[in-house]
Amino acid sequence: MKLRPLTALALSFALVATAFASKEKPVIGLSLDTLKEERWQRDRDTFTAAAEKLGATVIVQSANSDDTRQVRDVESLISRGVDVLVIVPHNGEAMGRAVKSATEAKIPVIAYDRLIKNAPIDYYLSFDNVKVGEAQAAYAVARFPQDRKARIVRIYGAPTDNNAKMFKQGQDNILLPLIAAGKVEVLHEDWAQDWKPENGKKIMNAALTKHGRSLDAVIASNDGTAGGAIQALTEDGLAGKVLVTGQDADLAACQRILRGTQAMTIYKPLKNLATLAARVAVDVAKGQKPAATGTLDNGAKKVPSIFEQVISVDKENLQSTVVADAFHKAADLK
Ligand code: GAL
Repeated sequence: MKLRPLTALALSFALVATAFASKEKPVIGLSLDTLKEERWQRDRDTFTAAAEKLGATVIVQSANSDDTRQVRDVESLISRGVDVLVIVPHNGEAMGRAVKSATEAKIPVIAYDRLIKNAPIDYYLSFDNVKVGEAQAAYAVARFPQDRKARIVRIYGAPTDNNAKMFKQGQDNILLPLIAAGKVEVLHEDWAQDWKPENGKKIMNAALTKHGRSLDAVIASNDGTAGGAIQALTEDGLAGKVLVTGQDADLAACQRILRGTQAMTIYKPLKNLATLAARVAVDVAKGQKPAATGTLDNGAKKVPSIFEQVISVDKENLQSTVVADAFHKAADLK
């Protein structure tokens, strides 16, 4: 009985000490959907380097596009006692379950690049994804034939990724009025499961089989699916004759732009996003509330959000953007 107050004191001291130590050197759990697209490797490396510079440690998990595995990844990060979670969800709806466990463990959650829906997350950091879609469609529209209806194919991203819906929404903002006015005809459209290039190729093959070779543009939502579509176009001798859009400034896509088989990509300065996310994660782990520039309703709350700007890139400005920023070396583009 007599020892009780002392034990309580020791215990509370231990707790304070742990909290203090973790605040000075926070541990961040980074859960990625995939490392398949080149960009995510860069996101991971830039984020980790920036967080370490700020005194944090980062534990990285990648789920290979598997929802069950990603929920398990997040739960294991929670049980390892991370101070904050940064998540790129494979499935923005399914990830709500893991956020619930994080909330119960009082671990703040930051959604990185892709939104987590219907769950009480703390921050959402991304690019202006509707603008991405608008820029893709606007680029194509500016180059459509003026004397007849333009014939296009639309390849959307993964239906499980909220971004894919926002890219489509941006494209719709530009295309729907033209479709309604009879200036554009969508020959074929489909969603590429898990953003896989081979699904982009399948969609393109289906379009060519059904509608023949008379085609003006393929609005592909990212470089991976654009690559798949361009393979199908190549097999039909159409590569370079049909305008193809993309996104991410993947090395292969930049090479295709220089070769003329892909018209454009969207360059997202990942360094800005990853560095910002590292700073926000460390601040949140230290119990601070970093300022957001806006909010986005994810179905559960208005999530404090920050959106970075994107740049439309083609042959004309590839050097002054992607190369000048050292995103790719000029020598690697050849
Ligand atoms: C999106 C992301 C894109 C693209 C795609 C496939 O969510 O915003 O940059 O890479 O996923 O991973």
